[in-house]
Amino acid sequence: MGSRSRIIGCGSYLPEKILTNDELAIAVDTSDEWITARTGIKRRHIAGEGEFTSDLAHQASIRALENAGIKATDLDLIIVGTTTPDETFPATAVTLQGRLGLQGGAAFDVQAVCSGFIYGLSIVDSMLRSGQVETALVVGAETMSRILDWEDRATCVLFGDGAGAVVIKAENGVAETTETPGILSTHIHSDGQLRDLLYCDGGPSTTGNAGVVKMMGKEVYKHAVTNLTDVVVEALAANSLQPEDIDWLVPHQANRRIIDSTIKKLGLAEDKVVMTIADHANTSAASIPLALDAALSDGRIQSGDLILMEAMGGGLTWGAAIVRW
Ligand code: ACO
Repeated sequence: MGSRSRIIGCGSYLPEKILTNDELAIAVDTSDEWITARTGIKRRHIAGEGEFTSDLAHQASIRALENAGIKATDLDLIIVGTTTPDETFPATAVTLQGRLGLQGGAAFDVQAVCSGFIYGLSIVDSMLRSGQVETALVVGAETMSRILDWEDRATCVLFGDGAGAVVIKAENGVAETTETPGILSTHIHSDGQLRDLLYCDGGPSTTGNAGVVKMMGKEVYKHAVTNLTDVVVEALAANSLQPEDIDWLVPHQANRRIIDSTIKKLGLAEDKVVMTIADHANTSAASIPLALDAALSDGRIQSGDLILMEAMGGGLTWGAAIVRW
């Protein structure tokens, strides 16, 4: 008998304002046709003036807590995966903790860009299973629109804003089989040699401002397909599972072509993939919990399903998690 970290609630939030490809094409030299063909993106949500990452995180968290049927005061850990924190400090997780009315427990941010949610899951899983905490909130929240160069058509068309959150609880005295509900395993990686492929050209210690996203798109694309395929193979092997055992792949939504190439390499069926890229664009750390919530809300993900999540982002960082629902 052992312990398992079980996801007991999920919630998400998207800002009201929607920016379509056609609207974007008025200000930037691009077209709906180019963006759709290259990325699968049709529209993205953009945070309103005065709406911050912590606001999106707060809304998603309230919904996740409600869905889990627990009170905020039951939480003893909050992790926010974000690359667009409200401020340099305190952590957005601490701001969220305050907004949820909490004074106890621990709260911190994880900076792993688009892999932030998977990194957060990995940390929480270790902390829950080691008995350090009992109930945790993992949030992915981003206002990517604030760190885009809106004159760089190669990057500004790709991203959107949003937040997603899950509540995770330790379950002790359970059999550690692949059939037992909860996180089966997590796998995280990074390669600092590749930092210049995708980065934000500002920061408190360098320019003093937040900077904007810089990306070598083709290189990132190649590494994404290779690394995501490798980490999925690693995650399946760690649990002696086969691709056909997966009920739902919930991938980071960076680009439809990256997802299509990855599933082709793995031999995964397209109808087992949760795809939100058309409506959300790339919301970085928020994209997986947003997609997860979409597939839970419409009833696609059912109790007992095997869920595989994977992500890659700036760093480069990448990772995967396998969950029995
Ligand atoms: N609209 C119209 N034309 C454009 C646009 C645009 N928005 N952006 C670039 N172009 C032009 C370029 O200027 C270039 O023109 P040229 O041939 O006259 O020089 C042409 O389109 C081709 O540009 P490429 O950069 O070679 O286009 P590519 O086919 O590589 O597609 C893309 C670009 C979509 C960014 C692709 O490289 C990609 O998806 N990369 C992965 C990046 C990614 O998803 N990053 C997200 C963060 S990382 C992650 O989350 C995994």
